[in-house]
Amino acid sequence: MNKQRVLLLSTTAIGVGLAIAVTSPNSPLPGIFLTAPAHAQNPCAASNPCAAANPCSASAAANHSTKCDVPRLVKEAKTNPCAAKNPCAPKNPCAASNPCGAGANPCGAAAAATITDAEAKRAGECMQDELKAAYAKSALPAAKMFATWPRYSSQAYQSATHGERYVQNYGSDKAKAYSKYEEAGVMPTGAVLAKSSFSVAPDGRISAGPLFVMEKMSAGFHTESGDWKYSMVMSDGALFGETKGKNSGAMQFCIDCHQSASDYDHLMFLPEEYRIKR
Ligand code: HEC
Repeated sequence: MNKQRVLLLSTTAIGVGLAIAVTSPNSPLPGIFLTAPAHAQNPCAASNPCAAANPCSASAAANHSTKCDVPRLVKEAKTNPCAAKNPCAPKNPCAASNPCGAGANPCGAAAAATITDAEAKRAGECMQDELKAAYAKSALPAAKMFATWPRYSSQAYQSATHGERYVQNYGSDKAKAYSKYEEAGVMPTGAVLAKSSFSVAPDGRISAGPLFVMEKMSAGFHTESGDWKYSMVMSDGALFGETKGKNSGAMQFCIDCHQSASDYDHLMFLPEEYRIKR
């Protein structure tokens, strides 16, 4: 992995507000939103983490899985007197007492829990059907189909660059060269890669996240994106946006980050330890 990619992996993340959050351990405000510099100093400003779209809001709370959770965290949240401070607790995360202090962005990276591989594996298996059903509500063929495709991740793993969510990677038949990872070369037109996701709150509750999709279009579609069309399907099946389609501007950050892998046809692959080799 080249230096730039390591840097991206370790320092950038997709903020939940669909901005790119750059997190620096030395920064007093870990959630700096590149696409919304006006709010960089104030993570509780109107447009950001406490807005309706964020997963800590009441509407998203209804989105919590009723079947899957992380038992250890659920137990800790019940027994730990500090659990009430959990920024994703039902009370308003933008209330005065809260989140703009330590941990800054209440609904971004800081609100994501880090769990063990074993916990992530269990959560991923538990969420599989729920995610499949969620994305199947989308009109996007990939969102209906991805679960039937070969999976390239051995289990759910945390992706710093996709909002600290836990993700799994799938590829359509035309994308089968993906199994060669860095040796995959340029994907053929029609190849599709999809990444399902869910988030884990500090209190152990799990929520379905977006499906991230890359589809290789014909040559000339969009040079800057390596002719990839990026799409993002929300967990209610709604299309958030796609390159050169709905909300194209808001999807530019996908291109920008993946461009750092232009030597690998804009593919970033997954951490070695979670790769399934076929
Ligand atoms: C800040 C960098 C960054 C941004 C922004 C980003 N990605 Fe990724 N993406 C990665 C990295 C790194 C990987 C592989 C490792 C991982 O899963 O974390 C990846 C993997 C993927 C994959 C699996 C194919 C591959 O490249 O190996 C898909 C599909 C994907 N991203 C879609 C998207 C979409 C859609 C968006 C925008 C909504 C997006 N990504 C935004 C960094 C990014």
